[in-house]
Amino acid sequence: MLTVQEFNQEFANSEIHFYTDSHGLACVELNNPMGKASLALHGAHIMSFIPKGQEALLWMSEKSYFEAGKPIRGGIPICWSWFGGHPCDSDLPSHGFARISVWEPIAGGNCADGATFLELALTPGLIANEFKTNDFLVKLRVEVSEKLSVALIIDNCSDKDLSYSAALHSYFNISDIENITISGLDGKPFIDTLSDTNHIQQGDISFVAETDLIYLDTEDTCIIHDPGFKRKIKVSKVGSRSTVVWNPWDAKAQRMPDFGDNEFHEMVCVETTNAESDARTLAPNECHSLQVIIESETEG
Ligand code: BG6
Repeated sequence: MLTVQEFNQEFANSEIHFYTDSHGLACVELNNPMGKASLALHGAHIMSFIPKGQEALLWMSEKSYFEAGKPIRGGIPICWSWFGGHPCDSDLPSHGFARISVWEPIAGGNCADGATFLELALTPGLIANEFKTNDFLVKLRVEVSEKLSVALIIDNCSDKDLSYSAALHSYFNISDIENITISGLDGKPFIDTLSDTNHIQQGDISFVAETDLIYLDTEDTCIIHDPGFKRKIKVSKVGSRSTVVWNPWDAKAQRMPDFGDNEFHEMVCVETTNAESDARTLAPNECHSLQVIIESETEG
């Protein structure tokens, strides 16, 4: 892997800058007149996104680890090649190995619409031996303008099928979980993973307790309505027919070492996924892209 200085020589321009952060992680900032984002190469983890002149859209825990082998709590963890627990080996870490592996920058520059882009790659040579699987090329393409676009592109380079589940596990910065609502999932079936029961969503989602829901058969945009911050956050997606909505509430927050006891008030996860019946199998040479586009608008 190249050093931060070498990445700067290869990919930096006036809008792309690699640096080592206060935790010693190699990071990159994309900054243009429309917006600013930062990523850690550890996990290809998007740590912040701030459209110019606005508040941060993504939330980061003050208790997060920033250490090799541990996921970062907040921002957008990239969950691959499994979402949640591993389907057959409970010793393997939650949400796959992509978020605890160090990715490699492969391209950066400017799009025709003025957005700044960066591409990172994860290949079998970059993952720990315990996670070895069929040959693959996974790319993360990030585009920053007044919107943030994140695409996880999975390419099955092996001669066998590649089965996986995945999430762009986005943590949003909100004024208070008890004052927001989420629209866009009315009438959709969902699994309540806390009770392992199936339901149909009636109207908008609001929050009064721990929430861990997997919505199925939905390609729709979700909107987080946040009157406290006078804004709505629009979460659109491509290549996904499932959406996860999560907030740990107080008791679970207290059980999580990397999550502050009261931080559940400030965040909600609306995750763009390929989960449950939306898990994917790619034939040899097949490719799939899971993409989320995040933007905010003033509201009320
Ligand atoms: C969500 C899951 O996607 O991620 C929850 O639906 C889980 O069940 C949460 O608790 C956080 O997972 P982790 O592994 O980052 O603690």
